[in-house]
Amino acid sequence: MTPELLRAPHDWVGAPLFVHSFVLPHDRGALSSARLELTAEGLVEATLDGRPVSPEVLVPGWTSYEWRLRMVEHDVTTLLGEPGQRHELALLAGAGWYCGRLGWMGAQQVYGREPGVAARLTLQWADGSTTVVVTDSSWRVVRSTTRSDDLYDGQTIDLRISRGDAIPPRTEPLDHARVVAPIGPPIVRHETIPPLSASTLGDGSVVLDFGQNIVGWLRMSATGPTGHRLVATHAEVLENGELARRPLRSARAEDVFVMSGGADLFEPSLTFHGFRYARIEGWAEVTGSVEAVVVGSDLRRTGGFMCSDELLDRFHQNVVWSLRGNTVGIPSDCPQRDERLGWTGDIAVFAPTACFLFDMTGFLRDWLADLRAEQAAADGRVPYVVPDPLKGWAVRAGDTPETTAIWSDAAVWVPWAVWEASGDVAVLRESYASMVAHTNRALSRLSDRGVWEGDFQFGDWLDPTAPPDNPFAAIANPDVIATAALHRTLDLVGRTASQLGLDEDATAWRTHARALRAAFSAAYVDDSGRILSDAPAVYALGIVSGVLSSADASAAGHRLAALVREGGFRINAGFAGAPYLCDALTLTGHLDEAYALLTSRQSPSWLHPVELGATTIWERWDSLLDDGTVNPGEMTSFNHYALGAVADWMHRTIGGLNSLAAGWSHIRIDPRPGGGLTWATSWQESERGLVAVVWESDPEFRVMYCAPDDTVVVLGHDARGRATRVTEGEMRDTLARLTETRVTQ
Ligand code: BGC
Repeated sequence: MTPELLRAPHDWVGAPLFVHSFVLPHDRGALSSARLELTAEGLVEATLDGRPVSPEVLVPGWTSYEWRLRMVEHDVTTLLGEPGQRHELALLAGAGWYCGRLGWMGAQQVYGREPGVAARLTLQWADGSTTVVVTDSSWRVVRSTTRSDDLYDGQTIDLRISRGDAIPPRTEPLDHARVVAPIGPPIVRHETIPPLSASTLGDGSVVLDFGQNIVGWLRMSATGPTGHRLVATHAEVLENGELARRPLRSARAEDVFVMSGGADLFEPSLTFHGFRYARIEGWAEVTGSVEAVVVGSDLRRTGGFMCSDELLDRFHQNVVWSLRGNTVGIPSDCPQRDERLGWTGDIAVFAPTACFLFDMTGFLRDWLADLRAEQAAADGRVPYVVPDPLKGWAVRAGDTPETTAIWSDAAVWVPWAVWEASGDVAVLRESYASMVAHTNRALSRLSDRGVWEGDFQFGDWLDPTAPPDNPFAAIANPDVIATAALHRTLDLVGRTASQLGLDEDATAWRTHARALRAAFSAAYVDDSGRILSDAPAVYALGIVSGVLSSADASAAGHRLAALVREGGFRINAGFAGAPYLCDALTLTGHLDEAYALLTSRQSPSWLHPVELGATTIWERWDSLLDDGTVNPGEMTSFNHYALGAVADWMHRTIGGLNSLAAGWSHIRIDPRPGGGLTWATSWQESERGLVAVVWESDPEFRVMYCAPDDTVVVLGHDARGRATRVTEGEMRDTLARLTETRVTQ
């Protein structure tokens, strides 16, 4: 039996609740299993007799709905009773990404006008027969207590509302061609966090500080008068003691709770907010308690890092928190303002870090399936955001959307990062055609002199020297950035072809790469080795992308080190350059400058925000200005992971844990101490087992490491003669001891 999509009548107000009751038959024996399949255009919260069918929230997440709609499955056997018992299956439908607001341009109902839900409950009996309950015209729709819901604006819950008349829903066939099984983990509630402090304002409202910038919502239990309204607003930072809500732009991030008169529990789970602070109006008149619920995709933590510098450790924790906050179903740019989109460039640069810290395989494979669907519908062009609600949209008037460096390169850089971390060749196999389509499209944009120039580029986005209102005005030349990035793409697609045994393809990609290197050098590198625009980002990306000859790379390294020194170890690069500065310096023999840059506390730097109290990575180096005010720029998020991509260098170079072959089968233990650090550790729970390094320099440099027996281990220069291999148990004890000295992440 096929379920139908149920929708409320057109004039429906609030989140509709679709209900159906059924009686378990007497004549089938015992129930052996009950399976509930669920999907929604929008969000669905399913309950059986009022009890949630699973811990999942924001079901079924966001996919490119035009082509992919997830159908989730739950075992609900334990929620059903004896023969003869009556049960009610209820499906609450939220707007979510399907018909709620999306993007900063005021778009709404991007995919459709109102949410729809579909479900199939399959009951398997001891006698071998099955009973199937599906969503169809026999269901009814009633009012829920949710009067309005939107991911950006928040949710209004009125506990005085009763179900009212049960009326027939509208039904329509569910298009099975679009239905897919989830590849990645579900979105769930993680921990809850109690407020660290509370202060009462003059009007009786309370401002709560949860001590950590998180993503999720508030849960509150409260007793107060019937009809009393509690209004909760959210913000990431305070400005002059008030919630700084301007960075949210048009996202209201406001939940309204109307009390029943009894002991109420409110939890707005058809929305989510990015916040550290919440203000609750109306709190003075009630008694109760509030906690914050952290929500996100259920990713398994796989990697970690600690060192003797607590500020650096806190920075690393901030990277972890920004990753957690930006993995609510998709890899997003930010979780709080009227955006929260799957910006491809952000995950392109951050993927290696993410894939070290968490098992991202399923999550990113699922997202890459959307990327491929979007790309296929756009003639090989990878959009700026995936899923793409901005279809056909050009960033600047007069431009037509075209493939663009780094952002569109996600088609290659992301699957490669997943492959490197997991060793799961399926991701390369699935993505190869998309990688090829993207690379060919980029190659087709090359100018007569063989470089990528003249197209729209985000370039070294948010370089700190660009004025707050013009992030395009980076010092790095965007064509140089684009051409260097394309070289990295050619290199990775070539390696992918080799990995898949496509030797002819691999040779062809290598030929393109060679030609691009020659063209880059002719167009952009002068006789003294200076690269056009002479910006840190062009040297950094030039070096790590392999587009430079070894002589040019060495000159570029010298120039980069000189620029970094001249700049007083302040960062002069944005999304395209900053992730690679430390690697480029290290690769060209300037480790001291890399450390000086990483450990600088001056603005702009990675650690300056940490000194200002950051608990996540900021979008801008100076999202908060030194005087405590919020950067006047339009885009000022306090939770963007892109600039945290340097953590990948920290894992490999400070921690000394390097993967030499995909899936951690071959590793190099190669800590490179510096920056005044006296110890550090980096660890990875790989599919094969724990690989970890701990080193200390006091009284003398010593390295301890562990790896599974079948792992090939190579010791780096500094570790040779000073490294001891220990058992996994010994290493776990050591890591546990070190963790005790640190704030838990
Ligand atoms: C997003 C970025 C994104 C950028 C591209 C911003 O609005 O928040 O992270 O990559 O636009 O231009």
